[in-house]
Amino acid sequence: MALEMTPLHPGFGLEVRGLELDNEAHWAEVTAAFHRAGVLAIRGLELDEAGHVALSRRLGALQVHVLTQFLTTPFPEIYVLSNVVRQGKPIGNHKEGLNWHSDWSYKEEPAVGSILHARVCPAEGADTLFACMHQAYEALDAATQQKIDGLFAVHSYATYYGRAFADRTPLSDAQRAATPDVVHPLVRLHANGRKALFIGREVVKEVLGVPPEEGAALLDMLNTHAVSAPFIYRHKWQAGDVVAWDNRNTMHQATDYDDTKYSRIMHRTTLAGEKPVPVRPLSVAA
Ligand SMILES: [Fe+2]
Repeated sequence: MALEMTPLHPGFGLEVRGLELDNEAHWAEVTAAFHRAGVLAIRGLELDEAGHVALSRRLGALQVHVLTQFLTTPFPEIYVLSNVVRQGKPIGNHKEGLNWHSDWSYKEEPAVGSILHARVCPAEGADTLFACMHQAYEALDAATQQKIDGLFAVHSYATYYGRAFADRTPLSDAQRAATPDVVHPLVRLHANGRKALFIGREVVKEVLGVPPEEGAALLDMLNTHAVSAPFIYRHKWQAGDVVAWDNRNTMHQATDYDDTKYSRIMHRTTLAGEKPVPVRPLSVAA
């Protein structure tokens, strides 16, 4: 079968059809496309959990999620997102990722990518939005680019968790210890040679080296600009879809659905991290 790749959105994202899991030539094309395109929506596969993990490993080494209560399949690499409750226990995290973010930006080495496999999809709602951070950066005026190229910001899981999950049990000491605040550049250099904004709502706490109010205003401006309509692709899920995205040059956001009417089960694997490469070193910015 021929491998077909067609654009999802002007400038980023590809829909992939005809991928044969044991076809090395296909994988050479798909992995190259992954590092270029930001988002791959792979359709037409019939994967079980082992197949999802094996496919994910083709794109890189995998890492296990810190919220171990949602690793509810036989595969610890699979983190479950769901509203389904079995035997009184949620099988996955629910209402996560409603803020714009890139996965694990709060870690010293944020996840390179994530691969989401749709197992059960609501008939309506629960779309995932993706925004291209290359395009967002490149659309900024030169003065703003020059200014933010040398700036760094604090990403905080504890801040995100406190804001997003105020109604939940607070993080355990172990979870808190596993996720200390980290500093990352506001602009990162991607291996593909392009610069990308590296920000996020709720999770980015402050900008270093500028007065707090100015930093907050800058973050707000960048977070608003980064998710302007021209940079966004909306994925409407079909059961069986596999969407792999590059956290180094995209942000994404979950959208709501009627969880009283529909079940949703999504399986996510996460590609191990790498430290963001700044445009200029931290010492210049401080
Ligand atoms: Fe996410």
